[in-house]
Amino acid sequence: MKWMVIVALVLPAWSAPCSGTAGSDGEEGLSCVQHGALGTELLLRCDAPAGAARVEWRVNGTTVAAAEDAVGGDQAQLWLRNASLAQEGEYSCHHPGTGKTLRRIRLRVGSPPEKPAIECWAVSYPQTVNCTWKLESEPRLETYFISTYRHGMGAKENECVQPGAGASSCSISDIQMFSITPYVLNVTAVNPLGATMNLFPFVVEQIIRPDPPEDLRVSPIPGASKKLLLEWQPPSSWPFPQYFPLKYLIRYAREGANSNRTIGPYEQTSFTLTGIRPRAIHHVQVAAKDFMDYGDYSAWSPLVSGTPWTQP
Ligand SMILES: *[C@@H]1O[C@H](CO)[C@@H](O)[C@H](O)[C@H]1NC(C)=O
Ligand SMILES: *[C@@H]1O[C@H](CO)[C@@H](O)[C@H](O)[C@H]1NC(C)=O
Ligand SMILES: *[C@@H]1O[C@H](CO)[C@@H](O)[C@H](O)[C@H]1NC(C)=O
Ligand SMILES: *[C@@H]1O[C@H](CO)[C@@H](O)[C@H](O)[C@H]1NC(C)=O
Ligand SMILES: *[C@@H]1O[C@H](CO)[C@@H](O)[C@H](O)[C@H]1NC(C)=O
Repeated sequence: MKWMVIVALVLPAWSAPCSGTAGSDGEEGLSCVQHGALGTELLLRCDAPAGAARVEWRVNGTTVAAAEDAVGGDQAQLWLRNASLAQEGEYSCHHPGTGKTLRRIRLRVGSPPEKPAIECWAVSYPQTVNCTWKLESEPRLETYFISTYRHGMGAKENECVQPGAGASSCSISDIQMFSITPYVLNVTAVNPLGATMNLFPFVVEQIIRPDPPEDLRVSPIPGASKKLLLEWQPPSSWPFPQYFPLKYLIRYAREGANSNRTIGPYEQTSFTLTGIRPRAIHHVQVAAKDFMDYGDYSAWSPLVSGTPWTQP
Protein backbone atom coordinates (compact mmCIF):
# COMPACT_ATOMS: atom_id res chain seq x y z
CA MET A 1 0.00 0.00 0.00
CA LYS A 2 2.92 2.29 0.74
CA TRP A 3 3.68 2.55 -2.97
CA MET A 4 0.16 3.21 -4.06
CA VAL A 5 -0.77 6.78 -4.62
CA ILE A 6 -3.74 8.03 -6.54
CA VAL A 7 -2.73 11.00 -8.59
CA ALA A 8 -4.91 13.43 -10.41
CA LEU A 9 -3.87 14.03 -13.97
CA VAL A 10 -5.18 15.98 -16.85
CA LEU A 11 -7.12 13.43 -18.85
CA PRO A 12 -6.90 13.38 -22.63
CA ALA A 13 -10.16 13.73 -24.53
CA TRP A 14 -11.13 10.33 -25.93
CA SER A 15 -14.38 11.90 -26.88
CA ALA A 16 -15.83 15.15 -25.63
CA PRO A 17 -16.38 14.58 -21.93
CA CYS A 18 -19.56 15.98 -20.43
CA SER A 19 -19.09 19.34 -18.77
CA GLY A 20 -21.27 20.63 -15.97
CA THR A 21 -23.98 22.02 -18.13
CA ALA A 22 -25.12 21.26 -21.61
CA GLY A 23 -23.65 23.65 -24.10
CA SER A 24 -25.79 25.61 -26.46
CA ASP A 25 -23.15 25.42 -29.16
CA GLY A 26 -25.08 23.38 -31.67
CA GLU A 27 -24.64 19.69 -32.57
CA GLU A 28 -21.11 19.55 -31.28
CA GLY A 29 -22.05 20.42 -27.73
CA LEU A 30 -25.05 18.13 -27.86
CA SER A 31 -23.34 14.77 -27.40
CA CYS A 32 -20.82 13.83 -24.78
CA VAL A 33 -19.35 10.90 -22.87
CA GLN A 34 -19.67 10.61 -19.12
CA HIS A 35 -17.68 8.13 -17.05
CA GLY A 36 -18.93 7.02 -13.68
CA ALA A 37 -17.48 4.82 -10.95
CA LEU A 38 -19.29 1.55 -10.17
CA GLY A 39 -21.43 1.71 -7.05
CA THR A 40 -21.40 5.50 -6.81
CA GLU A 41 -24.17 8.00 -7.23
CA LEU A 42 -24.15 9.60 -10.67
CA LEU A 43 -25.75 12.77 -11.83
CA LEU A 44 -26.63 13.23 -15.49
CA ARG A 45 -27.17 16.88 -16.24
CA CYS A 46 -29.35 18.65 -18.67
CA ASP A 47 -30.54 22.24 -18.84
CA ALA A 48 -34.27 22.61 -18.66
CA PRO A 49 -35.41 24.71 -21.58
CA ALA A 50 -36.91 28.12 -20.81
CA GLY A 51 -40.48 27.82 -19.63
CA ALA A 52 -40.28 24.11 -18.79
CA ALA A 53 -39.57 22.88 -15.26
CA ARG A 54 -38.73 19.33 -16.27
CA VAL A 55 -37.21 17.44 -19.14
CA GLU A 56 -37.89 13.97 -20.44
CA TRP A 57 -35.07 11.43 -20.10
CA ARG A 58 -34.65 8.45 -22.34
CA VAL A 59 -32.27 5.52 -22.02
CA ASN A 60 -31.44 3.69 -25.22
CA GLY A 61 -34.42 5.48 -26.70
CA THR A 62 -36.92 4.37 -24.07
CA THR A 63 -38.47 6.92 -21.74
CA VAL A 64 -37.28 6.52 -18.16
CA ALA A 65 -40.17 6.05 -15.76
CA ALA A 66 -39.61 8.59 -13.02
CA ALA A 67 -40.90 6.13 -10.45
CA GLU A 68 -38.24 3.55 -11.36
CA ASP A 69 -36.23 2.51 -8.37
CA ALA A 70 -32.75 3.37 -9.55
CA VAL A 71 -33.79 6.57 -11.17
CA GLY A 72 -35.08 9.75 -9.63
CA GLY A 73 -36.18 12.71 -11.65
CA ASP A 74 -34.99 15.98 -10.17
CA GLN A 75 -36.23 18.60 -12.53
CA ALA A 76 -33.72 18.51 -15.33
CA GLN A 77 -31.25 16.08 -13.79
CA LEU A 78 -31.19 12.34 -13.67
CA TRP A 79 -29.79 10.61 -10.62
CA LEU A 80 -28.44 7.09 -10.75
CA ARG A 81 -28.12 6.04 -7.13
CA ASN A 82 -25.85 3.01 -7.41
CA ALA A 83 -24.15 2.91 -10.77
CA SER A 84 -23.95 -0.58 -12.25
CA LEU A 85 -22.81 -1.95 -15.60
CA ALA A 86 -26.42 -2.51 -16.63
CA GLN A 87 -26.91 1.23 -16.50
CA GLU A 88 -24.43 1.95 -19.24
CA GLY A 89 -26.04 3.19 -22.37
CA GLU A 90 -27.15 6.16 -24.43
CA TYR A 91 -29.00 8.68 -22.32
CA SER A 92 -30.80 11.62 -23.82
CA CYS A 93 -32.88 14.42 -22.44
CA HIS A 94 -35.73 15.96 -24.37
CA HIS A 95 -38.02 18.94 -24.30
CA PRO A 96 -41.16 17.72 -22.48
CA GLY A 97 -43.45 19.32 -25.01
CA THR A 98 -41.77 19.04 -28.38
CA GLY A 99 -39.52 16.04 -27.74
CA LYS A 100 -36.57 17.98 -29.16
CA THR A 101 -33.25 16.42 -28.12
CA LEU A 102 -31.45 18.73 -25.70
CA ARG A 103 -28.51 16.52 -24.85
CA ARG A 104 -27.15 13.07 -25.49
CA ILE A 105 -24.88 11.39 -22.94
CA ARG A 106 -23.07 8.14 -23.50
CA LEU A 107 -22.57 6.69 -20.01
CA ARG A 108 -19.66 4.37 -19.32
CA VAL A 109 -19.34 2.77 -15.90
CA GLY A 110 -16.10 1.39 -14.49
CA SER A 111 -13.40 1.83 -11.88
CA PRO A 112 -10.12 3.67 -11.60
CA PRO A 113 -7.24 1.48 -12.86
CA GLU A 114 -5.77 -1.20 -10.69
CA LYS A 115 -2.18 -0.97 -9.60
CA PRO A 116 -0.04 -2.32 -12.48
CA ALA A 117 2.08 -5.37 -11.61
CA ILE A 118 5.57 -4.63 -12.94
CA GLU A 119 8.46 -6.88 -13.96
CA CYS A 120 11.81 -5.75 -15.32
CA TRP A 121 14.59 -7.89 -16.74
CA ALA A 122 17.97 -7.12 -18.24
CA VAL A 123 17.67 -9.53 -21.16
CA SER A 124 20.27 -7.68 -23.20
CA TYR A 125 22.72 -6.75 -20.50
CA PRO A 126 24.34 -4.25 -20.45
CA GLN A 127 22.40 -2.54 -23.24
CA THR A 128 18.79 -2.39 -22.08
CA VAL A 129 16.41 -3.19 -19.30
CA ASN A 130 13.00 -4.30 -20.59
CA CYS A 131 10.00 -3.84 -18.36
CA THR A 132 6.47 -5.17 -18.72
CA TRP A 133 3.37 -4.68 -16.64
CA LYS A 134 -0.19 -5.85 -16.47
CA LEU A 135 -3.41 -5.16 -14.70
CA GLU A 136 -4.95 -8.12 -12.93
CA SER A 137 -8.18 -7.85 -14.86
CA GLU A 138 -8.94 -6.48 -18.29
CA PRO A 139 -9.70 -2.77 -17.79
CA ARG A 140 -13.26 -1.79 -18.71
CA LEU A 141 -12.34 1.75 -19.66
CA GLU A 142 -9.68 3.04 -22.03
CA THR A 143 -6.43 2.85 -20.09
CA TYR A 144 -3.01 4.11 -20.98
CA PHE A 145 0.29 4.08 -19.12
CA ILE A 146 2.94 6.63 -18.30
CA SER A 147 6.34 5.04 -17.68
CA THR A 148 9.28 6.94 -16.25
CA TYR A 149 12.34 6.09 -14.22
CA ARG A 150 14.85 7.71 -11.94
CA HIS A 151 18.35 6.55 -11.12
CA GLY A 152 18.52 7.48 -7.44
CA MET A 153 16.27 9.51 -5.21
CA GLY A 154 15.83 13.02 -6.48
CA ALA A 155 17.57 12.24 -9.76
CA LYS A 156 16.16 13.50 -13.02
CA GLU A 157 13.07 11.70 -14.28
CA ASN A 158 13.53 10.02 -17.66
CA GLU A 159 11.08 8.37 -19.97
CA CYS A 160 11.05 4.58 -20.11
CA VAL A 161 10.29 4.33 -23.81
CA GLN A 162 7.20 2.38 -24.87
CA PRO A 163 7.21 0.80 -28.34
CA GLY A 164 3.87 2.40 -29.23
CA ALA A 165 0.70 3.94 -27.92
CA GLY A 166 -1.20 1.77 -25.46
CA ALA A 167 1.81 -0.50 -24.90
CA SER A 168 2.33 -2.40 -21.68
CA SER A 169 6.10 -2.54 -21.92
CA CYS A 170 8.98 -0.13 -22.05
CA SER A 171 12.73 -0.23 -22.22
CA ILE A 172 15.55 1.68 -20.63
CA SER A 173 18.76 1.98 -22.57
CA ASP A 174 21.72 3.97 -21.35
CA ILE A 175 22.17 1.71 -18.33
CA GLN A 176 24.91 2.43 -15.84
CA MET A 177 26.67 -0.82 -14.99
CA PHE A 178 27.59 -1.89 -11.46
CA SER A 179 25.80 1.05 -9.90
CA ILE A 180 24.71 0.34 -6.34
CA THR A 181 22.16 3.15 -6.61
CA PRO A 182 18.87 1.53 -7.49
CA TYR A 183 16.83 2.52 -10.48
CA VAL A 184 13.14 3.13 -9.79
CA LEU A 185 10.60 2.57 -12.54
CA ASN A 186 7.27 4.40 -12.16
CA VAL A 187 4.33 3.04 -14.13
CA THR A 188 1.13 5.03 -13.83
CA ALA A 189 -2.07 3.57 -15.27
CA VAL A 190 -4.54 6.25 -16.32
CA ASN A 191 -8.18 5.94 -17.28
CA PRO A 192 -11.03 8.46 -17.28
CA LEU A 193 -11.82 7.69 -13.62
CA GLY A 194 -8.35 8.07 -12.19
CA ALA A 195 -4.71 7.16 -12.16
CA THR A 196 -2.88 4.52 -10.11
CA MET A 197 0.85 4.35 -9.76
CA ASN A 198 3.26 1.57 -8.90
CA LEU A 199 7.01 1.74 -8.41
CA PHE A 200 9.56 -0.96 -9.18
CA PRO A 201 13.03 -0.42 -7.73
CA PHE A 202 15.88 -2.50 -9.13
CA VAL A 203 19.63 -2.87 -9.34
CA VAL A 204 20.53 -3.81 -12.90
CA GLU A 205 22.92 -6.67 -12.05
CA GLN A 206 20.26 -8.32 -9.88
CA ILE A 207 17.72 -8.52 -12.71
CA ILE A 208 19.97 -9.96 -15.40
CA ARG A 209 18.15 -12.84 -17.04
CA PRO A 210 19.21 -13.90 -20.53
CA ASP A 211 16.77 -15.32 -23.03
CA PRO A 212 17.11 -19.09 -23.52
CA PRO A 213 20.03 -20.35 -25.62
CA GLU A 214 19.21 -20.88 -29.32
CA ASP A 215 19.81 -23.37 -32.14
CA LEU A 216 20.30 -26.37 -29.90
CA ARG A 217 21.40 -29.40 -31.94
CA VAL A 218 21.63 -32.96 -30.66
CA SER A 219 23.77 -35.12 -32.96
CA PRO A 220 25.12 -38.67 -32.97
CA ILE A 221 28.88 -39.10 -32.93
CA PRO A 222 30.01 -41.63 -35.57
CA GLY A 223 31.23 -44.80 -33.88
CA ALA A 224 30.01 -43.77 -30.39
CA SER A 225 26.83 -45.64 -29.47
CA LYS A 226 26.65 -44.17 -25.94
CA LYS A 227 27.31 -40.52 -26.73
CA LEU A 228 25.48 -37.49 -28.08
CA LEU A 229 26.99 -34.22 -29.17
CA LEU A 230 25.13 -31.11 -27.99
CA GLU A 231 25.77 -27.70 -29.57
CA TRP A 232 23.95 -24.42 -29.15
CA GLN A 233 24.26 -20.65 -29.53
CA PRO A 234 24.03 -17.91 -26.92
CA PRO A 235 20.67 -16.09 -27.13
CA SER A 236 20.78 -13.58 -29.99
CA SER A 237 19.40 -10.90 -27.64
CA TRP A 238 22.59 -11.13 -25.53
CA PRO A 239 24.69 -8.47 -27.24
CA PHE A 240 28.28 -9.17 -26.20
CA PRO A 241 28.85 -12.84 -25.33
CA GLN A 242 32.58 -12.33 -25.77
CA TYR A 243 32.77 -9.64 -23.04
CA PHE A 244 29.91 -10.86 -20.88
CA PRO A 245 30.14 -14.63 -21.18
CA LEU A 246 27.34 -16.95 -20.21
CA LYS A 247 27.34 -20.28 -18.45
CA TYR A 248 24.93 -23.05 -19.24
CA LEU A 249 22.95 -25.81 -17.59
CA ILE A 250 21.94 -28.91 -19.53
CA ARG A 251 18.82 -30.90 -18.70
CA TYR A 252 18.23 -34.22 -20.42
CA ALA A 253 16.12 -37.32 -20.19
CA ARG A 254 15.76 -40.60 -21.98
CA GLU A 255 12.45 -41.04 -23.78
CA GLY A 256 10.02 -42.73 -21.42
CA ALA A 257 12.06 -42.03 -18.28
CA ASN A 258 10.06 -40.38 -15.54
CA SER A 259 12.71 -37.96 -14.39
CA ASN A 260 15.46 -35.95 -15.98
CA ARG A 261 18.99 -34.93 -15.03
CA THR A 262 20.45 -31.46 -14.85
CA ILE A 263 24.21 -31.02 -15.24
CA GLY A 264 26.52 -28.04 -15.37
CA PRO A 265 27.10 -25.18 -15.38
CA TYR A 266 29.49 -25.25 -18.32
CA GLU A 267 31.11 -22.27 -19.97
CA GLN A 268 31.29 -23.60 -23.52
CA THR A 269 28.50 -23.86 -26.07
CA SER A 270 28.92 -27.55 -26.78
CA PHE A 271 29.00 -30.67 -24.67
CA THR A 272 29.28 -34.42 -25.18
CA LEU A 273 26.81 -36.49 -23.21
CA THR A 274 28.44 -39.80 -22.35
CA GLY A 275 27.34 -43.09 -20.83
CA ILE A 276 23.81 -42.86 -22.15
CA ARG A 277 21.68 -45.78 -23.22
CA PRO A 278 22.39 -46.93 -26.79
CA ARG A 279 19.60 -46.59 -29.34
CA ALA A 280 17.38 -44.60 -26.93
CA ILE A 281 15.89 -41.26 -27.94
CA HIS A 282 17.06 -38.49 -25.63
CA HIS A 283 15.43 -35.11 -25.03
CA VAL A 284 17.65 -32.14 -24.20
CA GLN A 285 17.25 -28.52 -23.08
CA VAL A 286 19.74 -25.81 -22.09
CA ALA A 287 19.49 -22.67 -19.96
CA ALA A 288 21.87 -19.71 -19.66
CA LYS A 289 23.03 -17.42 -16.89
CA ASP A 290 25.49 -14.59 -16.61
CA PHE A 291 28.96 -16.05 -16.10
CA MET A 292 29.55 -13.93 -12.96
CA ASP A 293 26.38 -15.40 -11.47
CA TYR A 294 24.46 -12.13 -11.48
CA GLY A 295 20.71 -12.39 -11.77
CA ASP A 296 18.77 -15.49 -12.81
CA TYR A 297 18.95 -18.39 -15.20
CA SER A 298 17.03 -18.05 -18.44
CA ALA A 299 14.01 -20.19 -19.10
CA TRP A 300 14.84 -23.61 -20.58
CA SER A 301 15.23 -23.75 -24.34
CA PRO A 302 12.64 -25.83 -26.25
CA LEU A 303 13.14 -29.61 -26.16
CA VAL A 304 15.36 -31.06 -28.89
CA SER A 305 15.71 -34.81 -29.35
CA GLY A 306 18.41 -37.09 -30.70
CA THR A 307 19.52 -40.73 -30.79
CA PRO A 308 23.12 -41.96 -30.44
CA TRP A 309 24.96 -43.46 -33.39
CA THR A 310 23.90 -47.01 -34.20
CA GLN A 311 25.87 -49.66 -36.11
CA PRO A 312 24.78 -49.28 -39.75
C1 LIG B 1 -25.40 -1.40 -5.28
O1 LIG B 1 -25.55 -2.46 -6.24
C2 LIG B 1 -24.81 -3.64 -5.92
C3 LIG B 1 -25.01 -4.65 -7.04
O2 LIG B 1 -25.37 -4.06 -8.23
C4 LIG B 1 -25.28 -4.19 -4.59
O3 LIG B 1 -24.49 -5.33 -4.26
C5 LIG B 1 -25.13 -3.14 -3.52
O4 LIG B 1 -25.65 -3.63 -2.30
C6 LIG B 1 -25.86 -1.87 -3.92
N1 LIG B 1 -25.59 -0.83 -2.92
C7 LIG B 1 -26.53 -0.03 -2.44
C8 LIG B 1 -26.07 0.99 -1.45
O5 LIG B 1 -27.68 -0.13 -2.81
C1 LIG C 1 -28.56 0.16 -23.23
O1 LIG C 1 -28.13 -0.69 -24.27
C2 LIG C 1 -26.87 -1.32 -24.00
C3 LIG C 1 -26.45 -2.05 -25.25
O2 LIG C 1 -27.47 -2.83 -25.77
C4 LIG C 1 -27.03 -2.24 -22.79
O3 LIG C 1 -25.80 -2.90 -22.50
C5 LIG C 1 -27.42 -1.40 -21.60
O4 LIG C 1 -27.63 -2.22 -20.46
C6 LIG C 1 -28.69 -0.62 -21.90
N1 LIG C 1 -28.90 0.29 -20.80
C7 LIG C 1 -30.01 0.33 -20.10
C8 LIG C 1 -30.03 1.27 -18.94
O5 LIG C 1 -30.96 -0.37 -20.36
C1 LIG D 1 13.76 -5.00 -25.16
O1 LIG D 1 13.64 -3.69 -25.63
C2 LIG D 1 14.30 -3.45 -26.87
C3 LIG D 1 14.21 -1.97 -27.19
O2 LIG D 1 12.88 -1.57 -27.23
C4 LIG D 1 13.65 -4.32 -27.95
O3 LIG D 1 14.32 -4.14 -29.18
C5 LIG D 1 13.74 -5.78 -27.52
O4 LIG D 1 13.05 -6.59 -28.46
C6 LIG D 1 13.14 -5.98 -26.15
N1 LIG D 1 13.42 -7.34 -25.72
C7 LIG D 1 12.48 -8.13 -25.24
C8 LIG D 1 12.91 -9.49 -24.83
O5 LIG D 1 11.31 -7.77 -25.10
C1 LIG E 1 5.05 8.69 -11.10
O1 LIG E 1 4.61 9.15 -12.37
C2 LIG E 1 3.43 9.94 -12.30
C3 LIG E 1 3.00 10.23 -13.73
O2 LIG E 1 4.03 10.83 -14.47
C4 LIG E 1 3.72 11.21 -11.51
O3 LIG E 1 2.55 11.98 -11.42
C5 LIG E 1 4.18 10.82 -10.11
O4 LIG E 1 4.54 11.95 -9.38
C6 LIG E 1 5.38 9.86 -10.20
N1 LIG E 1 5.68 9.41 -8.86
C7 LIG E 1 6.93 9.27 -8.41
C8 LIG E 1 7.07 8.81 -7.01
O5 LIG E 1 7.88 9.53 -9.10
C1 LIG F 1 12.39 -32.34 -17.36
O1 LIG F 1 11.30 -32.30 -16.45
C2 LIG F 1 10.49 -31.16 -16.55
C3 LIG F 1 9.47 -31.22 -15.43
O2 LIG F 1 8.83 -32.46 -15.39
C4 LIG F 1 9.82 -31.14 -17.93
O3 LIG F 1 9.01 -29.99 -18.06
C5 LIG F 1 10.91 -31.08 -18.98
O4 LIG F 1 10.35 -31.11 -20.29
C6 LIG F 1 11.88 -32.24 -18.80
N1 LIG F 1 13.00 -32.01 -19.71
C7 LIG F 1 13.49 -32.96 -20.48
C8 LIG F 1 14.71 -32.61 -21.24
O5 LIG F 1 12.97 -34.04 -20.54
